Amino acid sequence: MPRHTLRPDSDTARAAAHPLRSLPVATETYPRGSSMLARWGLLAATAGLALTLGFATAGTALAAADGQAAQPGYVGTDTCATCHEEAVAAFKKTPHAASTKGCEGCHGPGSAHVDGSGDKAQIRQFKTLAAGESSGVCMECHNKAGQKHWLGSSHDSRGVACVNCHEVHPKGEAPKALLAKTQLELCTGCHLQKKAQLLRPGHMPVREGKLQCTSCHNPHGTPNDKMLLQTSVNQNCYTCHAEKRGPFLWEHAPVRENCLNCHDAHGSINEKMLKVKQPLLCQQCHQTASHPGPAYPAMSRYAFNQGCMHCHPTIHGSVHPSGNRFFR
Ligand code: HEC
Ligand code: HEC
Ligand code: HEC
Ligand code: HEC
Ligand code: HEC
Ligand code: HEC
Ligand code: HEC
Ligand code: HEC
Ligand code: HEC
Ligand code: HEC
Repeated sequence: MPRHTLRPDSDTARAAAHPLRSLPVATETYPRGSSMLARWGLLAATAGLALTLGFATAGTALAAADGQAAQPGYVGTDTCATCHEEAVAAFKKTPHAASTKGCEGCHGPGSAHVDGSGDKAQIRQFKTLAAGESSGVCMECHNKAGQKHWLGSSHDSRGVACVNCHEVHPKGEAPKALLAKTQLELCTGCHLQKKAQLLRPGHMPVREGKLQCTSCHNPHGTPNDKMLLQTSVNQNCYTCHAEKRGPFLWEHAPVRENCLNCHDAHGSINEKMLKVKQPLLCQQCHQTASHPGPAYPAMSRYAFNQGCMHCHPTIHGSVHPSGNRFFR
């Protein structure tokens, strides 16, 4: 076995590019403190590749930013660049350039891959990983902030992985390394029913770009139902429609209970995203009140122009002392 099969190009060429690389400074291999134990453990683990490895890691001491290169099995981003020049150049423009762990932060230790002259079987390829494993790699770093509720979230538990929504080697211009330019496009690629709903006439301005799916949901999971950002549907709606929160002198029970008793959050064929057309909307519950009954003669003033709201306009609640019937 050659002492170092780091890269396919000749030693001379490599030496010219990185003079220090060709120095087999074995002692610098374990700058984090090198007990014999660690060395032997490493020898065993890398099954005879230790020599090469020592060489590789010593070489990449050059890649000073690459904190991980100092660890056994890791070679550092500069080494990857010798063969994956384009990928590395493109990668340096992405937010992940801020990671001190370089390529191997995600692809795992690369020395065996390098020694095998780019043996694909010796490097972590995301397309061969199951969803949970794949996301597990990302979660090594992204287990905080917006992603902290990922594990067990609806997406995680249904086999959706980070890479179903993100591409960390971006091919397009999409923000946040997303696979599609807009969330609408990204999310409705799977959520077809939501796409259809958002195209209905009664809708909030999601397709107009004023709201995003993430105005209400965190696709990485939340402790709340339906991955909502707020603890309940009503709390969600109040964040933007604060006037519906009240307080009211006269509350309308179904409004307090759940806005979705009457509205569909994503869109409906009725105006104002009402689930059911008026007056049927009201009559679902108010069948036996003194004046309304389910079947009106068309001329009935109570059903005039299909509107209970003509006389009961403050349907979300009233602050007027005599608003108990939501007249004002
Ligand atoms: C943040 C994690 C991460 C880092 C860091 C990373 N990669 Fe990747 N890499 C991936 C994922 C995930 C894929 C699978 C394709 C995709 O989603 O873009 C991939 C795919 C690849 C591929 C396969 C070609 C392709 O587009 O499918 C190559 C080659 C590659 N990466 C090389 C590199 C190199 C070289 C570096 C360092 C400059 C690097 N990667 C850094 C996550 C990463
Ligand atoms: C000696 C040259 C060489 C070096 C150095 C090298 N690679 Fe590779 N790499 C290759 C070759 C060759 C392939 C196979 C390309 C193919 O068959 O399409 C490959 C394939 C890959 C793949 C799989 C691509 C796919 O098609 O899915 C990944 C990921 C990858 N390399 C990452 C890395 C990383 C990370 C490093 C640095 C730790 C690195 N490589 C260093 C030569 C190299
Ligand atoms: C269902 C699609 C989807 C999945 C799956 C997904 N993301 Fe995201 N991610 C998004 C969207 C959309 C944004 C943009 C949020 C924004 O712009 O407010 C985002 C943003 C991010 C951000 C930027 C910071 C932030 O929180 O806004 C990070 C980091 C991130 N995702 C990491 C991950 C990781 C790690 C995983 C897997 C554990 C993952 N994502 C899975 C859709 C997804
Ligand atoms: C070695 C640590 C590490 C790993 C592993 C890692 N990331 Fe990151 N990621 C970072 C750092 C550092 C940043 C940039 C700073 C930040 O936004 O926190 C970042 C940023 C991001 C962003 C935000 C991009 C933007 O435009 O704001 C997304 C999305 C993301 N990572 C997705 C992923 C995905 C998907 C994976 C798994 C394939 C992954 N990351 C694996 C460290 C990592
Ligand atoms: C790769 C396909 C895919 C993509 C892309 C995707 N989802 Fe999902 N989503 C799923 C699956 C699968 C489920 C689980 C469905 C179920 O349990 O019925 C789900 C469930 C959900 C749920 C319901 C949660 C619950 O607890 O019932 C919400 C909300 C959601 N996704 C939002 C989003 C958002 C927002 C985006 C875009 C940022 C998105 N999804 C992108 C596949 C996807
Ligand atoms: C204005 C807030 C809001 C926006 C914007 C929004 N949603 Fe929702 N979404 C909700 C609420 C509220 C629920 C809970 C419905 C329930 O409890 O029945 C929900 C539920 C869901 C569900 C679970 C299935 C269901 O209908 O019960 C999915 C999937 C979903 N949303 C996907 C999306 C996608 C994809 C987008 C972006 C295209 C999006 N949502 C935008 C508020 C919103
Ligand atoms: C992130 C902010 C936001 C959240 C959260 C939100 N909305 Fe909206 N909503 C809007 C905006 C913006 C409009 C458009 C207002 C306009 O055009 O004047 C709107 C419009 C509406 C309309 C009128 C639609 C029409 O056809 O004119 C209804 C009804 C509505 N929202 C109900 C809800 C309900 C119910 C919830 C909770 C599930 C909710 N909203 C959550 C921002 C939000
Ligand atoms: C009992 C049924 C019902 C419930 C429950 C309900 N609404 Fe409405 N909402 C309506 C009706 C009917 C309209 C149409 C009013 C009109 O045409 O003037 C409407 C209109 C709206 C509008 C658009 C017009 C306006 O008043 O700004 C918004 C926003 C709205 N509702 C938000 C909410 C929120 C937020 C909740 C939960 C707190 C909620 N609604 C609960 C029946 C209801
Ligand atoms: C989901 C069921 C439901 C829907 C839909 C509904 N309501 Fe109500 N409404 C109630 C309940 C429950 C009360 C409280 C009854 C009570 O306190 O005896 C109430 C009270 C009222 C009151 C006051 C009556 C009283 O006895 O104090 C009026 C007026 C009213 N609703 C009108 C409407 C109108 C108009 C609509 C359609 C826009 C409507 N409601 C839709 C359930 C509903
Ligand atoms: C022309 C005006 C008008 C229209 C239209 C109207 N109402 Fe009323 N409604 C009233 C008046 C006035 C009262 C008060 C009656 C009373 O206090 O005895 C009332 C009372 C109510 C009450 C209180 C319970 C009761 O038995 O007194 C409910 C519930 C109600 N209306 C529901 C509706 C519904 C549902 C519609 C649409 C189908 C509707 N109203 C249409 C004028 C109207």
